[in-house]
Amino acid sequence: MINIILLGPPGAGKGTQARHLVETRGMVQLSTGDMLREAQANGSEMGKKVAAVIERGELVTDEIVIGLIREKIAEGAKGGFIFDGFPRTLGQADALGDLLAETGLKLDAVIEMAVDDAALVARITGRSTCGGCGEVYHDQTKPWAADGKCTNCGSTDIKRRADDNEDSLKTRLMEYYKKTSPLLGYYYAKGDLKSVDGLVAIDEVKAAIGKVLG
Ligand code: AP5
Repeated sequence: MINIILLGPPGAGKGTQARHLVETRGMVQLSTGDMLREAQANGSEMGKKVAAVIERGELVTDEIVIGLIREKIAEGAKGGFIFDGFPRTLGQADALGDLLAETGLKLDAVIEMAVDDAALVARITGRSTCGGCGEVYHDQTKPWAADGKCTNCGSTDIKRRADDNEDSLKTRLMEYYKKTSPLLGYYYAKGDLKSVDGLVAIDEVKAAIGKVLG
């Protein structure tokens, strides 16, 4: 069982790679972005509170996301956890370390998905996901089939995120560089950091991550 963090800016390909690891290694994906969007879709009080923050591209409070992750870690994962989009601040990273230690788990690797900022606008503005199963698509690099059906589950529910526009992306990138990128140094100093090239084709990124995980 291995526990890993996928670390990278918006559009680096964290969700795409996490889904692959779930399918091939039976790991459990913990995406705080997905959890927050689910809370919004359910109409919960917390979901309503964070909706505008997410749409603007800002980070929600550490308290909220640490609470979400605490609940999920308590449920356990036989194949290990993939932390996708968490931690995003030094406070979240410290809290994750404490939560793992409390449950007798350890972090095996933090994988930086290194990308060029210039590629991110095209990735984010071209993204869609399947409302049925969450499969991630892209207008140019991974388009929907001509019949409009998801190749994974057959659903025709094409979803686009409210924060996937150039304005929100600028804020999301600024949040990443101010609050999340210091985690690269944090995990390097701990000896956990590995880096893969996130700019190559999806299958090549899969292979590079596979190599890191062994
Ligand atoms: P979140 O949902 O985590 O979004 P994000 O970090 O901005 O990351 P994305 O989902 O946009 O990108 P990704 O790296 O998963 O890329 P993907 O695989 O989809 O967070 C959303 C918001 O929630 C935050 O802004 C914040 O408000 C809040 N939030 C979440 N977690 C939080 C936390 N811990 N603390 C505070 N606030 C939090 O790929 C993107 C596109 O590129 C797809 O179309 C894909 O097909 C394509 N693609 C992927 N890989 C490749 C490749 N190698 N080559 C070509 N195309 C590719």
